[in-house]
Amino acid sequence: MIFSSVAITERKRRTALALNTVLKEEDTIIVYSGTPIQKPGGHDQNYYFLPHPDYFWISGSRRPYGVSAYSKTDGWIDFVLPVTREERIWEGGATVIPGKDLAEFSSWLEKRNAKRVFNLTQESDEVEWLQMKETFSRERRRKDAEEVELVRRLAGIANAGYQKLKTSVRPGISERQIQLDYETAVLYAGSEKFPYDSIVGTGSNSATLHAIPTARIVKEGEHVLIDAGADLHDYCVDITRIFPANGQRSERLKSIYDLVLKAQLESIAMCVPGTSWKEVHLKSARVMAQGLIDLGILKVSVEEAIQNNTISVFFPHGVGHMVGLRVRDVGGPYNPQPKKYAGARLRVDMSLEENHLMTIEPGLYFIEALIHDAETRRTFGDQVNWPEAEKWLDFGGVRIEDDILVTSRGPDNLTSVVEK
Ligand code: GLY
Ligand code: MN
Ligand code: MN
Repeated sequence: MIFSSVAITERKRRTALALNTVLKEEDTIIVYSGTPIQKPGGHDQNYYFLPHPDYFWISGSRRPYGVSAYSKTDGWIDFVLPVTREERIWEGGATVIPGKDLAEFSSWLEKRNAKRVFNLTQESDEVEWLQMKETFSRERRRKDAEEVELVRRLAGIANAGYQKLKTSVRPGISERQIQLDYETAVLYAGSEKFPYDSIVGTGSNSATLHAIPTARIVKEGEHVLIDAGADLHDYCVDITRIFPANGQRSERLKSIYDLVLKAQLESIAMCVPGTSWKEVHLKSARVMAQGLIDLGILKVSVEEAIQNNTISVFFPHGVGHMVGLRVRDVGGPYNPQPKKYAGARLRVDMSLEENHLMTIEPGLYFIEALIHDAETRRTFGDQVNWPEAEKWLDFGGVRIEDDILVTSRGPDNLTSVVEK
């Protein structure tokens, strides 16, 4: 088992307690693992199976077809598919959690004669469903000690890749080679797979937020932005680091790097229970706006850069997101039309609580598609020193990203093992 039965029992206990405040006697909650998906036209071939994260979290099982059901009268019951003969032959068996045979699920549900059945793994925008889902998600957002331990272990695994890059990033290497060096080291260190496509950008490509590694060669004087993680059982780390081509940060790189680092450290320091997430974002936005004023790139005050969204020309994304079980973890209550703060759309728009796990990833970028964009120029007209901004186009961008556990003892950087 990936998680101990003690941890799973505790997740069920606290989730039940929370659900009891919103459920009626005759209601049933169900959480499905999901069904393997066959490759189109691929005989006998399925895509790699990812259990629904809600199901994996509450049951501890990664098997398809399973159901965890909750009602006030029966508590949590797991219905699991026994290992089939075919599985024993082709895959050598499987890990099955204790529970009732899946075949009993339909008759159990029928007998309950539930007035309302909420399937948490089938998205809905119906008000009562959203209430149940949010009640469950609130518990799932709070990482327990075993989840934290797993994420810390993943940071160590990712660190093998970042250590490798200390020697392999040199002028002459391509983005693609950097990706391969990182991913090989991380797989050797024990990662099962990758939580997202590794991002590698050098030169102006480092300003592309989700840069796909290309054959582009790193040149002397440039730096490389690598945003890459590690993954075990769909738990992950999401980390970004900067590597100067020749191992030394130039004055130019330092001026942006130190600024982004200052923003990151000040935002990290705010990761304690009770802080409103938008304030964490605005902290980074303000620090970086001041830096851009000092560099002669912004021609407004810090508050104007925030109020007018001017900072979003150089910091166009949110400061982070929930992470842990998948790279975008349960990110907050239903928020179909996220508000913008300082020009960035924040899907997470809530107060931080004990044991939330957040990425903190401010970045400053000189993005051609924004700096040369007619609409951006019209909107921000004389608030930006455009000729000055243009001088940085070949520089690209800098992002620094860590995964921070929110605790009342203070922020706990779970990825601090990766040097920055
Ligand atoms: N790795 C993508 C992100 O930072 O969200
Ligand atoms: Mn990232
Ligand atoms: Mn991220």
